[in-house]
Amino acid sequence: MIGKLTEEQKAVQEAAREFAQQELLPGVIERDRNMTFATEQIKAMGEMGFMGMMVSEKYGGGGMDTLSYVIAMEEISKVDNSCSVAMSVNNSLVCWGLETYGTEEQKQKYLTKLSTGEWIGAFCLSEPEAGSDATSQRTTAVDKGDHYLLNGTKNWITNGGSSSVHLVIAQTNADKGHKGINALIVPTDMEGVEIGAKEDKLGIRGSDTHTIMYNNVKVPKENRIGDDGFGFKFAMKVLSGGRIGIAAQALGIAAGAYELSVKYAQEREAFGKPIARHQAIAFKLADMATQIQAARLLVYNAARLKDQGKNYDMASSMAKLFAAEMAMKQTVEAVQIHGGYGYVKEYHVERLMRDAKITQIYEGTSEIQKLVISRSVLSGKIYEEI
Ligand code: CAA
Repeated sequence: MIGKLTEEQKAVQEAAREFAQQELLPGVIERDRNMTFATEQIKAMGEMGFMGMMVSEKYGGGGMDTLSYVIAMEEISKVDNSCSVAMSVNNSLVCWGLETYGTEEQKQKYLTKLSTGEWIGAFCLSEPEAGSDATSQRTTAVDKGDHYLLNGTKNWITNGGSSSVHLVIAQTNADKGHKGINALIVPTDMEGVEIGAKEDKLGIRGSDTHTIMYNNVKVPKENRIGDDGFGFKFAMKVLSGGRIGIAAQALGIAAGAYELSVKYAQEREAFGKPIARHQAIAFKLADMATQIQAARLLVYNAARLKDQGKNYDMASSMAKLFAAEMAMKQTVEAVQIHGGYGYVKEYHVERLMRDAKITQIYEGTSEIQKLVISRSVLSGKIYEEI
């Protein structure tokens, strides 16, 4: 099952690694400090094919598998997680959702531009009072015959201020609960779309996170994704794949911190020898290597199940849970290995530690992943497929 990477997957890995080191590394500290969205770099990522990797070639995408996508996510996340989260949302929530559930007209109109990075997309589910409890949508999409009248507020929206298209989850018929929710394609130049202030965050500080207000936005009926009431299932389906992307991001964060730590520990001397030769540090490196490899196996497994058309809900939650918790723990260790240098920005590991925290929160907190996994376990699925 865990086979070798194909030549194509290795080429993707190499291209992503080179791009991250050459194009993202210079300036990453400044962008993080100044909360600068990497407009030029993300445009270049689109040109390289990283923004619509899994989209069919006929809609302008790379026509690649999920495994290629997670391999690229890992490499980019070793360096710049403000860029990799933009990539993840665009690829797995927006593009994959549109290609899988959109109409041909929607694909021609929106997907062809989103898959090339000409446009960036955002996924608007979270609200001030609906984070983990995602069925409690307060944003309303009232059915007005030929259009929906959209009103409400969405919070913590990745790519919020820099996207051309939002996929908005909203309640149409509250009496039907989650079965009354719809997913709407909302171009951001529509009247009534208001972008709130950018969030000043702990990590992924260059990512463009905003509150969005929708004030009487008239969304044509043809912009609904799927049948009436499909919106919540749509959100759950895309998040299942999205969690594989965020798991790959967490894996990349840990792997990036690990690679820096191995190098530093071999160069830095204390008590007459490189600190890597002291067991206290060598054992930390051994733990990091083991934990990262375990996460990689879970992430690759989830991606491969998705590529084989098998159910991957539990596998993606397991991958995200494990990789996120592991990344948080191991980036703290990376700072510790670097000592005083680890605590300053120049050495990169403190940024990776701050970035790791969000992987335990977005696209479903670690607690929500445990909820999803435990429901699978209790429904009779004792072991996940590998
Ligand atoms: N696929 C298809 N359908 C699914 C599903 C899945 N993976 N998971 C749930 N559903 C369906 C259920 O079958 C159910 O439908 P039926 O009644 O027809 O059977 C319906 O959805 C409601 O499900 P539940 O009864 O399980 O709902 P719940 O309220 O108990 O729990 C939850 C649902 C799993 C907790 C869900 O609310 C959840 O995932 N919450 C976390 C939200 C989240 O991940 N937010 C991330 C924000 S986006 C983001 O972060 C992007 C970014 O910017 C980086």
